[in-house]
Amino acid sequence: MLVTAGPTEEPIDPVRVITNASSGKMGYAVARAACEAGARVTLVSGPVALPTPAGVERIDVRTADEMLEAVKRSVADCDVFIAVAAVADYKVKNRAAQKIKKGAATGMSLDLTENPDILAHVAGLKDAPFCVGFAAESERLAENARAKREKKRIPLLAANLAQQALGADDNDITLFDDRGEHPLGRGSKLQLARKLVTHIAGMLAGEKRARAKA
Ligand code: C5P
Repeated sequence: MLVTAGPTEEPIDPVRVITNASSGKMGYAVARAACEAGARVTLVSGPVALPTPAGVERIDVRTADEMLEAVKRSVADCDVFIAVAAVADYKVKNRAAQKIKKGAATGMSLDLTENPDILAHVAGLKDAPFCVGFAAESERLAENARAKREKKRIPLLAANLAQQALGADDNDITLFDDRGEHPLGRGSKLQLARKLVTHIAGMLAGEKRARAKA
């Protein structure tokens, strides 16, 4: 299994970045739960302050571009890709080589350009692994989650409310797949990660049975 976790950091100048409040806890819990279930796990991680779960191979990255490159290098080897990272949607177009000074300017604006969508890239590969996405929404969870699953063309999406999940040890997750909506309920991120891994294993077993019948 290949898992992405944490935020990404997009540099503005040598000392400043654009980032977000993702702690990485959910992605690390998913990596740990997958490893406990017997998977060989590679974790591509943005900058976080968390220990590497036992048995997990961790690759540290900083920017979305670096995360995409690390994922591209590992993806051919994996059966399941779980994108938990809160990837920055935008990066700074012309990052300054030197620290930007405060000064005469009355205002300041940053020119932004879109980052690659890592999950969409992997889901679009010819021999794509089984892809799982995460959605952190601030409102209309089910509606946004269903739309996101279809847009990204992925079999499974885990949705949570951003304001509940960010930085917390607990979460409340609902899964969305072809069969509909599956609330996992509230619990620690590790408990929910274990339920997610069990759900993925069930879906993979179902796929295998369907292939055997065909
Ligand atoms: O479109 P949105 O960012 O809300 O989608 C969230 C899902 O897509 C998460 O699974 C996240 O890890 C993944 N994603 C990604 N690369 C991006 C943006 C999101 O892999 N640039």
